[in-house]
Amino acid sequence: MLIERHHQITQLLDLLQDYPVAAILGVRQVGKTTLSRQLVPHLPGPVTAFDLEDPRHLERLSDPMLELEPLEGLVILDEIQLRPELFPVLRVLVERRPLPARFLVLGSACPSLTGSMSSIRVRRPLRWGNTFGLSD
Ligand SMILES: Nc1ncnc2c1ncn2[C@@H]1O[C@H](COP(=O)(O)OP(=O)(O)OP(=O)(O)O)[C@@H](O)[C@H]1O
Ligand SMILES: [Mg+2]
Repeated sequence: MLIERHHQITQLLDLLQDYPVAAILGVRQVGKTTLSRQLVPHLPGPVTAFDLEDPRHLERLSDPMLELEPLEGLVILDEIQLRPELFPVLRVLVERRPLPARFLVLGSACPSLTGSMSSIRVRRPLRWGNTFGLSD
């Protein structure tokens, strides 16, 4: 049975209103992808999701600017730690005005990912509490 995540969904909706990029970081199997799916019905506009573990999605992102630039609403990039080179692309895309799309990135916390994220204005990532085995 799926546990409702009202609090986290509200937090994410708030973050995405205030910031062009929000991140959900957490260890494997903590529920990141599921949370992103639970968020979708609460979003007003279109949603496009990429799973970077899926070779077909990776293929679509072989020219990331070409693929991401026309998208509107929310773009979800799951397993972002596999393609940290996308962060500079996101930085360019979130500087557009008016802003056509916001981004939700999901990833396993690791030092290289944190380093990549510092290159753009990612809001302090939403982190699961210690009960999920993560600490700041
Ligand atoms: N809210 C929830 N209620 C009940 N079960 C959940 C919930 N969220 C996730 N799960 C279960 O936990 C498992 C892992 O969930 P999920 O795939 O979303 O995690 P993840 O953090 O994206 O994992 P990974 O890092 O491997 O991609 C799945 O079996 C899923 O069904
Ligand atoms: Mg996942």
